[in-house]
Amino acid sequence: MSVNKILVTGGAGFIGSNFINYLLANRDDVFVVNLDKLTYAGNLENLKPSENKKNYVFVKGDITNNELVDYVFNKYEIKYVINFAAESHVDRSILGSEVFYRTNVIGTNVLLEASRRYEIEKFIQVSTDEVYGSLGPEGLFTENSPLSPNSPYSSSKASADLMALAFFHTFGLPVVITRCSNNYGQYQFPEKLIPLMIINSLNNKKLPVYGDGLNVRDWIYVLDHNRAVETVLEKGKPGGIYNIGASREMRNIDIVKLILKKLNKPESLIEFVKDRPGHDRRYAIDSTKIKNELGWKPVYVFEDAISETIDWYIKNKVWWERIISGNYKEYYKTLYENR
Ligand code: NAD
Ligand code: TYD
Repeated sequence: MSVNKILVTGGAGFIGSNFINYLLANRDDVFVVNLDKLTYAGNLENLKPSENKKNYVFVKGDITNNELVDYVFNKYEIKYVINFAAESHVDRSILGSEVFYRTNVIGTNVLLEASRRYEIEKFIQVSTDEVYGSLGPEGLFTENSPLSPNSPYSSSKASADLMALAFFHTFGLPVVITRCSNNYGQYQFPEKLIPLMIINSLNNKKLPVYGDGLNVRDWIYVLDHNRAVETVLEKGKPGGIYNIGASREMRNIDIVKLILKKLNKPESLIEFVKDRPGHDRRYAIDSTKIKNELGWKPVYVFEDAISETIDWYIKNKVWWERIISGNYKEYYKTLYENR
């Protein structure tokens, strides 16, 4: 690629910031415009490694804002779009769904329309395996699995996927969809399972495990996800869908116990609480297609990467203390008070 102008939306969130830091550390043939609204989940501190780079610019704004999005495409001559921006937490979508549909569906529509107007080269819609719904004890999600989303969050992501594909079929917009499994790693907001359990353990607080703790998620290190998105950016086929996963299924209770063990904390901190409504039982992803067609495969080993992640949270107390002392406290109370 020659120098290419990439619009990364949601680049101040967990995965988007890891992606930008990764991309700019490894290549100088790209110019990245990070468009992020800085919701509760957006944190510019995540971008310290990139903020002074000449080929990086931050724009604070909302992807649902047509005028602003048009201005950004025009001013920076955007050629590629990677849409990470989203409301991303299932529990929040149960507490209030409107903003999920506004950002994840309408916001994606605004970006797709601008991409048509400016005839961009590729649009990557960063989606999730949650659009496939829930699995029984056997089997894996493939790209051909039917869409069967169960939460307001996953239904908003599935809606955006269908819209993106419609823009490919109807207008020939070069859209590619990625569907990744559960990520973990540095800069993950402490509402998600792994950082929440690490931080509660460090603070000797109870660890709220939903239901029987036997729900299964398929875990991938965020750095493996970054490389997959970069691969799709370069080689993904327009109109294509690519599952991304590292074949590392874990029961929630086993992750929680592993975290306690690494931190030398007692299992008596575990507290089984009321289950999440509509809680998907199991996710597990088949990523044969991206391996065979595009040559990507995960390289990080779960045991090492989870240890790195735990160490990062130990070393970066200032980062998460600032978060949990703010608005997050109110949310935590609403969600867990009556469980
Ligand atoms: P996150 O919640 O950490 O970050 C989301 C970012 O989007 C934040 O910086 C936020 O400020 C920004 N944002 C929200 N609404 C916006 C708006 N209207 N306009 C502009 N910016 C806005 O999320 P994440 O975990 O980094 O997930 C990123 C993407 O990856 C999402 O699309 C999510 O659906 C998808 N995904 C996440 C996972 C996971 O395990 N976290 C797995 C698969 C796919
Ligand atoms: P989460 O990190 O919210 O990701 P997702 O629901 O999108 O997969 O949750 C991962 C799993 O952990 C999920 O089965 C719900 C469970 N969980 C708990 O048991 N307790 C918690 O406090 C949280 C946040 C999640």
